Amino acid sequence: MLFSIFALLFCSVTFSHTIERNTLFSVYDYGAIGDGIKNDTQAFFNAWNATCNSLLENPKIIVPGDGTFLVHQILFSGPCRAKNIAFLIIGRVVAPDSPTSWSGLDQGRWLTFSEVERLHVTGYGTIDGRGHRWWAQSCRDHPNLVVTAMVFQSCNDSSLTKVNFINSSQVHISIEESNYFQVDNLYIEAPEDSPNTDRIHVHASKHVTITNTMIRTGDDCVSMGDYTSDINISSIVCGPGHGVSIGSLGRSGNFVQVENIHVSRVYFEHTTNGARIKTWQVGRGYVRGVIFEDIKFYSVHNPIIIDQYYCDIRGACEETVTGVHISNVTYSRLSGTSSTDIAINLNCSTSVACTDIVLEWIELSSAEFGIGVTSSCTNAYGSAIGEIQPNPPCVLMSNTSIGTAT
Ligand SMILES: *[C@@H]1O[C@H](CO)[C@@H](O)[C@H](O)[C@H]1NC(C)=O
Ligand SMILES: *[C@@H]1O[C@H](CO)[C@@H](O)[C@H](O)[C@H]1NC(C)=O
Ligand SMILES: *[C@@H]1O[C@H](CO)[C@@H](O)[C@H](O)[C@H]1NC(C)=O
Ligand SMILES: *[C@@H]1O[C@H](CO)[C@@H](O)[C@H](O)[C@H]1NC(C)=O
Ligand SMILES: *[C@@H]1O[C@H](CO)[C@@H](O)[C@H](O)[C@H]1NC(C)=O
Ligand SMILES: *[C@@H]1O[C@H](CO)[C@@H](O)[C@H](O)[C@H]1NC(C)=O
Ligand SMILES: *[C@@H]1O[C@H](CO)[C@@H](O)[C@H](O)[C@H]1NC(C)=O
Ligand SMILES: *[C@@H]1O[C@H](CO)[C@@H](O)[C@H](O)[C@H]1NC(C)=O
Repeated sequence: MLFSIFALLFCSVTFSHTIERNTLFSVYDYGAIGDGIKNDTQAFFNAWNATCNSLLENPKIIVPGDGTFLVHQILFSGPCRAKNIAFLIIGRVVAPDSPTSWSGLDQGRWLTFSEVERLHVTGYGTIDGRGHRWWAQSCRDHPNLVVTAMVFQSCNDSSLTKVNFINSSQVHISIEESNYFQVDNLYIEAPEDSPNTDRIHVHASKHVTITNTMIRTGDDCVSMGDYTSDINISSIVCGPGHGVSIGSLGRSGNFVQVENIHVSRVYFEHTTNGARIKTWQVGRGYVRGVIFEDIKFYSVHNPIIIDQYYCDIRGACEETVTGVHISNVTYSRLSGTSSTDIAINLNCSTSVACTDIVLEWIELSSAEFGIGVTSSCTNAYGSAIGEIQPNPPCVLMSNTSIGTAT
């Protein structure tokens, strides 16, 4: 609250002095009520339409700090005539609080930006998915939809910064088909036991950076889909949740193309996984050029894991001749504690081995005093540099071995 008040003061001062009034589009001027009860969807749409069509450079659409705005599913679409639009979220945007609001919709998306270039969504405000009623339902009653709080689809050269995301019903943020997208300074939170409240999902996108972000949800903090490359994830606090996951990849036999993924300076706390690569057995294609470095784990279930046997569909997981080829993956300067006895688990496909796996200065021990941890490798080839605990590093010699350390 203090933050928003500060931001409101700060912004109004800045704007009145440095920006011409006619580049500002407040949702209030388009009929928003901001009481959290009345439906402000149309006002948001009208404000967006006016901004997008405005022929201005650097126009700003504002969700002011003194309101709570109830917004139903909405599409902010481009291409826009305006250039370089800033979408300032200073206040609070809330989703309809009943899951039935989403039934009958063909896509589980709440706030979608589509085909807008050079879009900058920012502000100190909050996006509140009000997911609690949703989580309380039994699976049987769920509309068969994954609701994503904010979707960026085909938004090149764009960014999402400083916004808070809370209690999203399922996925918080999805970045799709967007190149040169920057995510910075977000705070994302949902209760640990909320089902499938994934985090930030990146799909079919290139040149995405995700930095300085704290993610406390029930599922993956950051996940990457089948066609992603040149991704830089740095300075992230993750937990509780499932970790940073490349995957799951290759569902339904997709041809995976994932390359040049750099994950650095991440602190994982009480997560089920840390640095994870997860592929379906039926997948094809490759994951290559991955670096996980300068990572700390605090009581993590599977600190380092490659799982090429991912499957949650009966009958989809028979041993196949296909498999995603994982190569050139470096784990460098990773340390901390594991809450299970297998701290390093490289469970590669029996049909396509992992190659060029490099372990460099790894120090993992048990979260419980006096207990040893081990590493387990199946079909993982590569090398080890520097001290590795647990020792011996099982990637070295054979394609199936187990090492133990205490
Ligand atoms: C809210 O307003 C939007 C835009 O006018 C409309 O499409 C939607 O049906 C409204 N929802 C409810 C529940 O009134
Ligand atoms: C969007 O804005 C343009 C230009 O301001 C206007 O001509 C058009 O009618 C608006 N469209 C809708 C659907 O409101
Ligand atoms: C985004 O960039 C890619 C490659 O730079 C380009 O192919 C695509 O058309 C761009 N998308 C839009 C909506 O302009
Ligand atoms: C998020 O949802 C949980 C569970 O319903 C609730 O306890 C919490 O207060 C909510 N957080 C916010 C910031 O509204
Ligand atoms: C990734 O981001 C971090 C933090 O901004 C930066 O230090 C690093 O150089 C970046 N790496 C790449 C490969 O872009
Ligand atoms: C391995 O991946 C790194 C990081 O993406 C890249 O810089 C390097 O060129 C790759 N090495 C090979 C042999 O492809
Ligand atoms: C590797 O995956 C197989 C197939 O799912 C599983 O049976 C095995 O327990 C896994 N190994 C480890 C060490 O997790
Ligand atoms: C793994 O090694 C064993 C013996 O060391 C060998 O029989 C087997 O063919 C190897 N598997 C692969 C996939 O290379």
